[in-house]
Amino acid sequence: MVIKSVAIIGTQWGDEGKGKIVDFITKKYNITHVVRYSGGNNAGHTIIVGDKKIVCHLLPSGIINPGTICIIGNGVVIDPEVLIKEIQKIEMLNIKITSDKLKISENAHIIMPYHKQIELKSEESKGRNKIGTTGRGIGPTYADKINRIGIRIGDLINKEIFSNKLKKNLEFYNKLLISIYNGDPINYEKVLEEYINYAEIIRPFVENVNHYFFKLLNSNSDYIIIFEGAQGTLLDIDYGTYPYVTSSNSTLGGIFTGSGFGNIQFNKIIGIAKAYSTRVGNGPFPTELKDDIGKYLQNKGKEFGSTTGRPRRCGWLDIPILKYSVNINNINSIVLTKLDVLSGIKKLKICTKYELDGKEFDYFINNQTFLDNCRPVLEEIGGWEEDITNIKEFEKLPDNCKKYIRKIEEMTKVPVDIISTGPDRNQTIIRNEIL
Ligand code: IMP
Repeated sequence: MVIKSVAIIGTQWGDEGKGKIVDFITKKYNITHVVRYSGGNNAGHTIIVGDKKIVCHLLPSGIINPGTICIIGNGVVIDPEVLIKEIQKIEMLNIKITSDKLKISENAHIIMPYHKQIELKSEESKGRNKIGTTGRGIGPTYADKINRIGIRIGDLINKEIFSNKLKKNLEFYNKLLISIYNGDPINYEKVLEEYINYAEIIRPFVENVNHYFFKLLNSNSDYIIIFEGAQGTLLDIDYGTYPYVTSSNSTLGGIFTGSGFGNIQFNKIIGIAKAYSTRVGNGPFPTELKDDIGKYLQNKGKEFGSTTGRPRRCGWLDIPILKYSVNINNINSIVLTKLDVLSGIKKLKICTKYELDGKEFDYFINNQTFLDNCRPVLEEIGGWEEDITNIKEFEKLPDNCKKYIRKIEEMTKVPVDIISTGPDRNQTIIRNEIL
């Protein structure tokens, strides 16, 4: 029995195009399992096949590949209503989601209505300093997990446990909503009824994921498992630009605590890097462009959130950030996405280092004082005019485009193995096989 493992990690602030790449690799390499291990429906992984566009918020991006088993690990937070709607949407494409196809950890925490309410109120109260969250209740759900008052999928499917936990939590949250946030209380009976209905739909998919993996390890078959990251390294609760981050570990370490699987020797740790930078929500962004080029990238790259529709802030590629992600995640393969968006920009720039108080730093410093005051040092690189969306071989790319890719390799010391030149599965150049 051989088990191969591949990690897919966002190297920037999310939205790097992980969904397309997970779907592409799943199909190309006959991936047996795709596992989500962090985040929740703050993510929006877009897959385009032919004329079909599918956005997965919770379901792993391998979901449309027949024969691939999808697992939602304990590190994910689940909004049951969103999950059920997503299952129904996929089933409308004639893809049957059975309990053999989808397995959900009984230890994943669930997002409750009070989490969404509290997040809304808390963001409102921060005014200009708000995080700019996706408003899905992600942070408060993880806060409850850490505070040991969270409710898990395994609790949800036991009416007695669920109703007791709900009652207790609502006693606390209703006081908070009324007295601190001047809001309306949440009705216990209504939530109970709603969630008990969800429980019955979700029940068949609930699994002891750890034991499932144990059985896999002790079987005679071969497996290839993808661990699908959500968000990106710079949004990680520990390694990201805190406090403007999400509330989970979106980096490699999250796999060990959030998937239910510990026996992992990664064959590839793939960093997904967009050819330029984007960020949704507030927080530091050293290479941000507030000019026409920023607007050009936003429009051409369709940089509007797949979860919230918010416009994404856009900027030049930031090499110190890529190097930081490579280090944090031990990345040994880069997939460069949305390279086609850069076609038509005469003079491209890449941030190779930062400058602060006359000193230069060729590495990322994750410190608010530094990030608030540093200036990106930009190196100019020639652009290219050609449309590259239908090019299938690296050698056929325009010379400056190849230079851009080689510059990334030279500076990060990691090969760019796959290049994505458009949203479709077919618009992908493989330079080196990853498995
Ligand atoms: P939260 O995850 O909803 O708490 O939002 C915290 C921060 O992470 C905000 O800046 C969000 O815009 C950002 N964020 C969360 N998920 C994603 C994502 O999938 N892509 C891009 N940004 C995200």
